[in-house]
Amino acid sequence: MRETDDKLRRLAYLDAMGIQVWQGRDVVPVDEPDLAEDVRAGAIQGAVAGTACGAMPDLPTWEMLQGQVAACQQCDLYRQRTQAVFGVGSRQAQWLIVGEAPGADEDRQGEPFVGRAGQLLNLMLQAIGLSREEVYIANIVKCRPPNNRDPRQEEMAACSVYLKAQIQLIQPRIILAVGRVAAHHLLHTQQKVGALRGQSHRYGETDIPVVVTYHPAYLLRSPQEKRKAWEDLLFARQLLTQ
Ligand code: URA
Repeated sequence: MRETDDKLRRLAYLDAMGIQVWQGRDVVPVDEPDLAEDVRAGAIQGAVAGTACGAMPDLPTWEMLQGQVAACQQCDLYRQRTQAVFGVGSRQAQWLIVGEAPGADEDRQGEPFVGRAGQLLNLMLQAIGLSREEVYIANIVKCRPPNNRDPRQEEMAACSVYLKAQIQLIQPRIILAVGRVAAHHLLHTQQKVGALRGQSHRYGETDIPVVVTYHPAYLLRSPQEKRKAWEDLLFARQLLTQ
């Protein structure tokens, strides 16, 4: 009974996302087995050392890190921010969702992905049975770039130490990079999102798999691509069961 309810709920989320699911011969696998509650591997060893930019040799506590981000003036973005947007979710999350940078809504509310793109991200997560509360959501850059421009290299470099520390603290089992900016920064590549999808990449020198998908803001402009994003999430979820 619970399985049926779950399936119906996921179908409803997919419907809300604008993804039509046909039942029948081409049934879309909405109800694969739940993810095993694996013991979380200590895979992150060396994550900070393994990637470029920034120096934070000792792992800070969450409180220290949050304080550092709130007071950060390492690049010019602090001048126009309402507040830094640290990250949200479970500190024990298996999934880390990484976006680009806060927009106007996030800058105002102090939380990542709370605008329209965030609402779609919530639906995407729910469609694979994940709530926003059980994942962790963070951005490459913690302060809003003016006029929603892309973050600059020097801004990402200045901020990367914070995401690195968040990854070390959380030790996620998977990282979902949403959009080009996050994918390029995490994977040190310039390849298009379309070419990066469908593969299990690695974060730095660690064993943490990185899956790339489209940014929900892009999906709002190109709803015909939502199905691909859903496939990416299913692919990521499948990686966790291996
Ligand atoms: N887009 C992002 O990449 N991050 C946010 O927090 C909001 C929109």
